[in-house]
Amino acid sequence: MTIERGRAVTPERLPEDLAEPSLRPRRLAEYIGQDRLRQNLSILIEAAQARAEPLDHVLFYGPPGLGKTTLANILAHEMGVKIKTTAGPAIERAGDLAAILTNLGQGDVLFIDEIHRLRRDVEEVLYSAMEDFALDIIVGKGPSARSIRLSLPPFTIVGATTRPAMLAAPLRDRFGAVYRLDFYDAAAMEQIVTRGAEVLRIPITAPGAVLIAKRARGTPRVALRLLRRVRDYAEVRAAGRIEDVVADEAMRLMEIDDLGLDDLDRRVLETMILKFGGGPVGLETIAASIGEEADTIEDVVEPYLLQLGFLDRTPRGRVATEHAYRHLGIQPTPKPGQAPLF
Ligand SMILES: Nc1ncnc2c1ncn2[C@@H]1O[C@H](COP(=O)(O)OP(=O)(O)O)[C@@H](O)[C@H]1O
Ligand SMILES: [Mg+2]
Repeated sequence: MTIERGRAVTPERLPEDLAEPSLRPRRLAEYIGQDRLRQNLSILIEAAQARAEPLDHVLFYGPPGLGKTTLANILAHEMGVKIKTTAGPAIERAGDLAAILTNLGQGDVLFIDEIHRLRRDVEEVLYSAMEDFALDIIVGKGPSARSIRLSLPPFTIVGATTRPAMLAAPLRDRFGAVYRLDFYDAAAMEQIVTRGAEVLRIPITAPGAVLIAKRARGTPRVALRLLRRVRDYAEVRAAGRIEDVVADEAMRLMEIDDLGLDDLDRRVLETMILKFGGGPVGLETIAASIGEEADTIEDVVEPYLLQLGFLDRTPRGRVATEHAYRHLGIQPTPKPGQAPLF
């Protein structure tokens, strides 16, 4: 029997990531990395507190697993207010949003995850709510219908999205503060692994933590998942302690290479190179030839490959770079009559 487990290095949340909420740092000071963003948020919070006002509406965007939900919770905690969490696709009708908004207290945070997936009519209710802290409600029907304006106590919308370009401009414009989350650097990733091991009480050596951090694709969620999977391996094969040799063996077993690429990443690159001469090739075409959804590739494969410089986006499609060829150990073959590529 094989146990179906999701892709170990996917930045998206898997059912096994159960411990995630308990691993979330609660305060800004415990949040590791993203230094400039942390400084900006700390100023935003202090300024709002000094004026005794609710926080401005805040939008976080960036690839999955980098800490958007964590930051939304930290903002509420630091402001000493309640947070209500929902997601774009979960709000089915304008009336649902109205019900949520009328239940918020003064200064509370409404966190809307995947805010790019809000329905149009829901989005329109949100506009006036964000701008004027008011809801326009139609009462009655036919000729006697009239609109009444219900005012709301001031609150804060915190939005999160992996697809900022899909956000309608009027919605984007209503956020007073917009922040991009970047992949984490090596030092931050090591700290995140070390802290995760402490919280989960996993014995790990410093070189073991470095090894996991390097393969976690600059993404805290992936780091914490790899940490747990390597622990399983260490418990079975190495008396529970994560040393670098043990971590390395576990990674090999999961077919994760030294840059954190797995089978899916390699298939994407190999398809581009071997089937399409390195590109340019459209995302849809790549997706079709490996039997994956284009959205999956765009959200969970491509960002890290771009970050590594293995992939370029051009107006005519995706191109595999020299780095990708080298990493896969594939010799570029020049087309007939063409000079060597590199
Ligand atoms: N800066 C950080 N420091 C420590 N842990 C973090 C940090 N950012 C994210 N994490 C952890 O990574 C996991 C995923 O973070 P999350 O906020 O859910 O990401 P997102 O909402 O962007 O997909 C959580 O378990 C969280 O605790
Ligand atoms: Mg999230």
